[in-house]
Amino acid sequence: MSQPRRPPGPSALSFMWSLLGSGHAGNLEALLDYQRRYGDIVWLKAPGFSMYLLSNPAYIKHFLVDNAVNNYAKPLLNQRGIVMGHALSTSNGAYWKRHRRMVQTAFLRERLNAVVPRISREVHRVLDLHWEPRVRSGEPLALGREMSRLSVSVLLELICSESPSDELCDAVFSFLRGSLLEASSLLVRAPLPRALSRGLKKWRHPDFLPAAHRIDAFARELVARRLKLPEQPDDLLGQMINARDEKGEGMSELELRDEFVDVFYGGHISTGIGLSWMQYCLARHPEVAERMRDEVERTLGGRSPETADLAGLQYVGQVFDETLRHFPPAHGLLRIATREDTLAGHDVPVGTQMLASAYVMHRLPEFWEQPEAFHPEHFSPEQVRKRPRFVYLAFGGGQRICVGSHLASLIAIVLASALAQRYRLELVSERSIRFVARGTFHPANLWVKVLPAREAAAPAGRINVA
Ligand code: HEM
Repeated sequence: MSQPRRPPGPSALSFMWSLLGSGHAGNLEALLDYQRRYGDIVWLKAPGFSMYLLSNPAYIKHFLVDNAVNNYAKPLLNQRGIVMGHALSTSNGAYWKRHRRMVQTAFLRERLNAVVPRISREVHRVLDLHWEPRVRSGEPLALGREMSRLSVSVLLELICSESPSDELCDAVFSFLRGSLLEASSLLVRAPLPRALSRGLKKWRHPDFLPAAHRIDAFARELVARRLKLPEQPDDLLGQMINARDEKGEGMSELELRDEFVDVFYGGHISTGIGLSWMQYCLARHPEVAERMRDEVERTLGGRSPETADLAGLQYVGQVFDETLRHFPPAHGLLRIATREDTLAGHDVPVGTQMLASAYVMHRLPEFWEQPEAFHPEHFSPEQVRKRPRFVYLAFGGGQRICVGSHLASLIAIVLASALAQRYRLELVSERSIRFVARGTFHPANLWVKVLPAREAAAPAGRINVA
């Protein structure tokens, strides 16, 4: 039997060597380096591990769209744990298709635009309660923790019309911190011997299990309570409860619990991280922060945004997109070949992992002028129109594109506008910030000082994550 035709790539030894000390942005830089050395399709291998790194939009479209249904599946990392269940982001096939149809009706763009004032109210409630005392005391604020709280609060308000208790926010953050500590990305764990991989997975933060049970209890109680109501409130959970499939059937109580957790807990992770990166980028680029502040001032003056103001806050949206270009929280899209395929003259045997790295795609000079610069102009309508699809991958692409992408952008626009109106954020120490690339690409140890809007601006700088 002839050997499969494989793309070029580093030796197994050199690839495994590059993973040593993994978990930081250096790993993502290693992928960029492979792209530069070997081209648009690179074979990354180790014993029992085979992955193609794809950096051509046509190849990415091939596995995310053209052959997505017949040849590729999402690797299911988290089938049913205490928190995550069997939901959109953790299913494939007919189950995924039925749920995607029912869940995405709740996330229609026009419907979401109408919730801008509700996002704004929730943002100001959290800022009044948790940020104001810090501004007065001058104490620094752990941005990751606070952005998790803000995204939990806003998402809960929109999904089920409730404000979370501090204790629930703490549980969500503890569970998130525990999961992030526990999660080594597939890229890191997969090539390791099985026993070592399991050993790494087993270690848990002491808060992890109590937090998981708290979130599960909250979700179960909420869904059970809501199903007893004669009429659903006008929120995302209400839409999901009312959604019907082709046979006219709705989701079961357990299915609803799982979808609720998927959009609430799952949605809050990348949103919180994206919001943290955005404030980091604004603190590093005061000229961008100033231009954004001008736009907010011109459009809103001192008032809170309404739906009609979105058109006037275009630059704020571009700043968010540019942030996610530099720092995509979901840094890689991964699929696994379930049937043999060929791509660009290479064989794709069953079991091959296909990786489109947002980190790599967002830095290719053929698609981005001055990719290393922080230029929100990269997302002007003209530039967006000119760019091929499947180059900007912050929210994925194809049939499994993020259902919450528009909502995440709305939250970012409203929050960034509110922060610009009220405060200036200064990084406490640049050097202590760590760029962590595991399951997500997120900043750690990011502390800020929150000053009233009129005080001095933060220092300028250039982003260098390597
Ligand atoms: C900055 C914020 C966000 C980022 C960067 C982000 C990124 C992504 C990406 C890259 C995917 C595709 C993963 C893949 O194809 O393997 C995805 C899927 C998903 N996202 Fe988001 N997301 C964000 C916010 C949200 C929010 C706010 C929600 C819900 C409230 C949400 C819910 C989901 C769900 C349910 C999926 C699975 C979709 C499916 O498989 O059909 N996300 N997200």
